[in-house]
Amino acid sequence: MDLVYRPRRLRRTAPIRGLVRETELSPRQLIYPLFVTEGKSVRDHIDSMPGQFRLSTDELVRECEELYALGVGAVNLFGYSEEKDELATKSYDSDGLVQRAIRTIKSAVPDLCVQTDVALDPYTTHGHDGLVIDGEIVNDESVEVLCKMALSHAEAGADWIAPSDMMDGRIGAIRNALDVQGFSQVGILAYSAKYASSFYGPFRGALQSAPKSGNKKTYQMDPANIREALKEIALDLEEGADVVMIKPALCYLDVISRVREAFDAPVAAYNVSGEYAMVVAAAEKGWVDRDSAMMEMLLSIRRAGADMILTYFAKDAAALLRADYGSFR
Ligand code: PBG
Repeated sequence: MDLVYRPRRLRRTAPIRGLVRETELSPRQLIYPLFVTEGKSVRDHIDSMPGQFRLSTDELVRECEELYALGVGAVNLFGYSEEKDELATKSYDSDGLVQRAIRTIKSAVPDLCVQTDVALDPYTTHGHDGLVIDGEIVNDESVEVLCKMALSHAEAGADWIAPSDMMDGRIGAIRNALDVQGFSQVGILAYSAKYASSFYGPFRGALQSAPKSGNKKTYQMDPANIREALKEIALDLEEGADVVMIKPALCYLDVISRVREAFDAPVAAYNVSGEYAMVVAAAEKGWVDRDSAMMEMLLSIRRAGADMILTYFAKDAAALLRADYGSFR
């Protein structure tokens, strides 16, 4: 054979493959979602997400110290609240679970970027991300509560607020509320294109936050749509989002890639609980190798165009990357 091009020449040895590798994964690009619970010395294992825990604040601090030492980019806090009501009043309590956790982490590991989830579902009896009035998930009334919640997190010292609720106009309203109160330095990581996905199941188990009735399709997006995602992203950027997010990640790599091409803003992707649980479950059965499947997924999300990835694999991946995994494969 007389071939001019032999692509295999560039795959011949690990160092050569390293020279031509196009995508890099680094701990600084990873964001670790963490679940906060009341109590002391609590490490409550989450059955639907093997290897993940609901942590009391003291345990959370230890975890954050380790994550910071590993070079993980940020943590993203979710509250596991047992005090739920119709109006999500605990969501904006200045002495609430997440608010206390932010203060504790910030005093122990001040340089770690602390992000907080803003949505009502962990705090409502009905499990929806907004308020329900006469059987309807109302928009503007919900946004008012979300603003209070965001402010309480900013007051506690959060670096970034991450609204995951998908109400219309909440990014602009939260930006304005923060600015008026003097928190113009607090960033907004907007869940802009969040799809009504079946891959949130294990997370809802972790927070006991599954909707008691109906589903989330009147606010989360239809998995069939991509033009609508571009519209949502454009709106959130106009309203003042600093970073836009696509969620979930793996079924939506095309969306990540289109958004990356169409906008200059930093792009985040959420490698959600169901995506995590599938790998962990298959690995437990011996059907896939946990570490290499994890790395392949995270690398694919980066290759599609995400600058940063929220992932339950953040700690494990960071530890492997620091051990120089991948540079000589
Ligand atoms: C709710 C919220 C969800 C997730 C993050 N914030 C679930 C939902 O919308 O029902 C899912 C995260 C995951 O599955 O890992 N505001």
